[in-house]
Amino acid sequence: MNEIKKVKTDDKGKFYNYMNMKLIGLICEESDGLANLSNASALLNLLLDEINWAGFYLYKNRELILGPFQGKPACTHLQIGKGVCGTAAKELKIQVVKDVHEFPGHVACDSASESEIVLPIVYEGKLIGVLDIDSPIKGRFDEMDAKGLQRFVDTLNKYMDWSTVI
Ligand code: SME
Repeated sequence: MNEIKKVKTDDKGKFYNYMNMKLIGLICEESDGLANLSNASALLNLLLDEINWAGFYLYKNRELILGPFQGKPACTHLQIGKGVCGTAAKELKIQVVKDVHEFPGHVACDSASESEIVLPIVYEGKLIGVLDIDSPIKGRFDEMDAKGLQRFVDTLNKYMDWSTVI
C-alpha cells in the first residue's frame, strides 16, 4: 500500500483534492464496506489538523448507530432530530457548528470538542448515515471544509456498497 503523508498547506481546496485522491486509492478496489469506512476514518484522522474525533454513524432501525471512527469511545445510539448528528440526519443538511455549546441539544461525547461538522450521507434518496468530525478549537470548520468533505462523501457514495454495512 502507498504511504499516505500529511500535507502542509493553507489552501483548503488543494488539501481536499489530495485527501479525495487518497480516499479513492484506498477504497476503489475494496468491496467490503466496513473495511472502507474504517480506512476512511483513519484517513480523516491522519490528514485533518486540529480534530479530536472523526467517523461515521449509520442509520439503522430509525436511529444513528456508531460506526467506524477514530477518537475517544463515543455514544453508540443517537436519535434522529437530536444533537448535531441527529439534526443533519433529519434535515439532510450539512451542519457547520462553530461552537457546540451554543447548539441546542448538542450531545457531548468528548468534553474536548468545541466545534463540529456533520454531513448527511444520502444514497439514491435514502439516508445511509452521517460523517461527523469534532475539533477542540472553536470555529475550526467553514464552507470550504463543507465543500471538501461533501466531495469526500460523494466519493464514498461512488465506490461504497452500502448494503455491506447497513
Ligand atoms: N456531538 C454529536 C454526537 C457525536 S460525537 O460528537 C462523536 C452530536 O451532537 O450529535
